[in-house]
Amino acid sequence: MSLMDRSEPIPSDWDRRGLPAWTYQSAALFALEREHLFLTHWQVAGHANDIPNPGDWISFDLLGERALVVRGQDGQPRAFMNLCRHRGARVVDGVSGSCRGALVCPFHGWVYNLDGSLRGAARPETFGPGFDKAKFGLKPVELQVFGGFLFLRFRPGPQPDVAALLAPYAADFVSNRAETLLPAQACSWTTELPVNWKSVRDVDNEGYHVPLAHPALQDLYGRDYRDIYLPDGLHVSYGFFGDRAGRRWSVQRYVKHAPEQPHLPPHLRRTWAYYGLFPNTVFAFTPEGAQYYHDLPVDPGCTKLTGRQYRYPNESRQMRLARYLAARIDRETSAEDQQLSIWSNESMRSEGFEGFHLSDLEWGLRRHHDQLRHLLPVMRQDLAPPEGEMAQRNDELICQSK
Ligand code: FES
Ligand SMILES: [Fe+2]
Repeated sequence: MSLMDRSEPIPSDWDRRGLPAWTYQSAALFALEREHLFLTHWQVAGHANDIPNPGDWISFDLLGERALVVRGQDGQPRAFMNLCRHRGARVVDGVSGSCRGALVCPFHGWVYNLDGSLRGAARPETFGPGFDKAKFGLKPVELQVFGGFLFLRFRPGPQPDVAALLAPYAADFVSNRAETLLPAQACSWTTELPVNWKSVRDVDNEGYHVPLAHPALQDLYGRDYRDIYLPDGLHVSYGFFGDRAGRRWSVQRYVKHAPEQPHLPPHLRRTWAYYGLFPNTVFAFTPEGAQYYHDLPVDPGCTKLTGRQYRYPNESRQMRLARYLAARIDRETSAEDQQLSIWSNESMRSEGFEGFHLSDLEWGLRRHHDQLRHLLPVMRQDLAPPEGEMAQRNDELICQSK
């Protein structure tokens, strides 16, 4: 059965207001989101092919926590805190890199093996008798691989293993040969927006805005766009293109050059497909490449948007051209979405704002908000509790629901 036949029905009558405005501004709630959402849920850090050789590493920072993923001498990728056990310096600095056989802390030169164990401290005799280097390895971070992508989480949480969680996506990821993806040139990008992270998600979680806000996407696939709602908060969107030539320069050329991929099943052959992972990540596959993007909160009013782009091995000139054109369309779309996120977030500071009034086509927002309300029931309150009582109020509501 294809994912399209598995979409949950939308009830006819539902509370269309969305989360109250205070949840987009409260520092105390943001602290709860850090604890109960971001550090305890799976985050994508890259792809196994970002670190093809022993000693290759990528880093991942989130809300004061720092991780690195490094490929070991045995070929296994492992994740650790990017935090030297001597005085906490970053063991690796930057987005990605490569080391020869060992990670050397830039502060005082402690040397770690690629399996995280401490090979040696500089001047070990100065640490007194009985310095036991076995106790000072890098702290491990949970890491799992799905479709070639590397997922980590800083603390145990409510989600199951990634393979179980994303099982409904497995067939599409296999069809798209996700494991074979290679990083595109200059594959990672980052930008910061002055908005709460939920405002970014709210814009991205629905297709109702596509016809007006995204002229290029509308031109490409606006006539046949489907949102598919699956259990466990999974959300897939398919945009089917190719039924007509396209009016805009980049769309016309993209439709012309997008490669026919005979190995893809019909529902992915002329499709831009998006796969959501709660709370803040989306994977996107097109016939010529793939990417993921996620919103990484910085503070209640600032969010880092970042992602990585991938290509297929043995890429033809035609595929490279199609990927270039797709990226152009994406850049345009992303700039449009960023503006919409800013307006939406700004409005919540206005006394004139009375909450959302959502269409059935925005059911994706409601599901995202429902999951947030489930994990942090204090978000159900229309009025903001005092900041100093936020955590306690949330705990009480969790207890009451048990
Ligand atoms: S902080 Fe790493 S060696 Fe001192
Ligand atoms: Fe959008």
